[in-house]
Amino acid sequence: MAEIETHDYDVLVIGAGGAGLRAAVEASATGARTGLVCKSLLGKAHTVMAEGGIAAAMGNVYSEDNWQVHFRDTMRGGKMLNNWRMAQLHAQEAPARVMELEEWGALFDRTEDGRILQRDFGGHRYARLAHVGDRTGLEMIRTLQQHAVHRGMDVYQEVTVNRLLKDGDRISGALAYYRESGRMVLFRAKAVILATGGLGKVFAITSNSWEGTGDGHSLAMQAGADMIDMEFVQFHPTGMVWPPSVRGILVTEGVRGDGGTLKNASGERFMFNYIPSMFAAETADTEAEADAWYEDRTKRRTPDLLPRDEVARAINSEVKAGRGTPHGGVYLDIASRRSSEYIKRRLPSMYHQFMQLAGVDITAGPMEVGPTAHYAMGGVKVDAETAATTVPGLYAAGEVAGGMHGSNRLGGNSLSDLVVFGRRAGEAAAQYALGLSTLPSVSEGEIAERSAAILKPFDGGKENPYTLHRELQDAMQEEVGIIRTNSEMQSALGKIDNLRERLGHVQVEGNIQYNPGWHLALDMEHMLLVAEAITRAAVERKESRGGHTRDDFPGPNADFGKVNVVVRHTAGGLGVTQEPLPQMPDELKKLFEE
Ligand code: FUM
Repeated sequence: MAEIETHDYDVLVIGAGGAGLRAAVEASATGARTGLVCKSLLGKAHTVMAEGGIAAAMGNVYSEDNWQVHFRDTMRGGKMLNNWRMAQLHAQEAPARVMELEEWGALFDRTEDGRILQRDFGGHRYARLAHVGDRTGLEMIRTLQQHAVHRGMDVYQEVTVNRLLKDGDRISGALAYYRESGRMVLFRAKAVILATGGLGKVFAITSNSWEGTGDGHSLAMQAGADMIDMEFVQFHPTGMVWPPSVRGILVTEGVRGDGGTLKNASGERFMFNYIPSMFAAETADTEAEADAWYEDRTKRRTPDLLPRDEVARAINSEVKAGRGTPHGGVYLDIASRRSSEYIKRRLPSMYHQFMQLAGVDITAGPMEVGPTAHYAMGGVKVDAETAATTVPGLYAAGEVAGGMHGSNRLGGNSLSDLVVFGRRAGEAAAQYALGLSTLPSVSEGEIAERSAAILKPFDGGKENPYTLHRELQDAMQEEVGIIRTNSEMQSALGKIDNLRERLGHVQVEGNIQYNPGWHLALDMEHMLLVAEAITRAAVERKESRGGHTRDDFPGPNADFGKVNVVVRHTAGGLGVTQEPLPQMPDELKKLFEE
């Protein structure tokens, strides 16, 4: 242990996307000595994949908008499974967080009279996504990063945390390694904030990049934190399906918000056949009515902008029924409604990225799109006010935290979630840490044991980490994907067990210096635990709701509408239980009666 580089902090933030950066800013502003660890380079996070905007009821385009309507939309989008208090705080505080980003330098698109412009997205009653073209997440990261660096904090780039450390019941730090040198680094900390993002790399088709391996979900489980809603994985309806160079890459919902429509192979606008009763009153049911909405946004909205779970399931049904495109998707067409100049101005990244990476000109013809694993609604159970987990000293914010989005997240609500709860986590963790007079201790024995385990993949086995990852992704995609059944999920659990056994015999070549095969072997432990948690929770939830659709239990079940499925890591493996949802107060219930 004497040889391990060691750093001490009041608050250690793991993850430098929107939530991590916002948490680090607040922890530092509250007076805590703060360290920020990123798995990748600073500025590269899945936050940039929230392209179309940040949802906040600012009322700049529709003065009728307010936090109550945003709250109601969010709860309905999540099929009422959301933690109501998180959804309330989120809707109330999002406008202030957007204004704060502007004060810190974010350059949002403007209305003609100079206010922040807001665009339409699925499931939002009013146009409420503040945006920067289709690069909103990127602008947000740029702004937060600059602000954080200027506040003054230590930033560790390309560092992967392998384990959280505890002193008795409470958190005491984290053991990590530098990806470049392979050397270990020990962080001792009074409080740790997990802001590690998502877990898309568990699936074969995903919008997530290599970092999205569910590390934070797994670290929290291993540290004994309760997890909720792990069965709910969001398949964003519009990932590119063709050509292979861009498979899974996100086509922002902003394309539909700005005029794009979904069509099947016969050219039919099939979404009119999939309008659920919950959204019937506000959704156009003829093409003429939907087209009128594009010109006059006070009319009933196009069904192309139903919440993501509805659209993803509809696309899946069209493809299954043989009405899909040659490569197994549907068409998304904006070229026939909007001019080339309009598309390039409103959606510059979409235009350039698909032109350059795939030779697809979205101003000239339709894209082929289909669902892509995008976001985990489930995650670490947190207190709504403080983002505290069930482990003292451990906090979680952003995608790694569960509860806010219920069974399905509305587009644009992730960026606002990151800054609302990132700020709350940073403040609460700092206050907790500043209340402790000494650093909790770390165990030398545990660190030595863990360090040896981290190096074990060099010891000589026969399994290739890339093969194991591919097999896990295929199993999850095929057997725990958009449509699930008990028999397939039991098969996936068998495969996960088998892969875990084989991971014990994994072999990596080369040495510890920048060795992606070794890094993947270590990430696999996290991905297997996360895949198991998703699958066990999905087996437990015997109904269809939001992002969780079961062939053997089609439709919602009122009893399951009252509970969270909770996953806990115990000595005997992952345990699954059900816990009642927190009760919504009557004054908020009334919003749904109206
Ligand atoms: O479609 C998008 O631009 C993604 C946004 C989000 O996930 O919130």
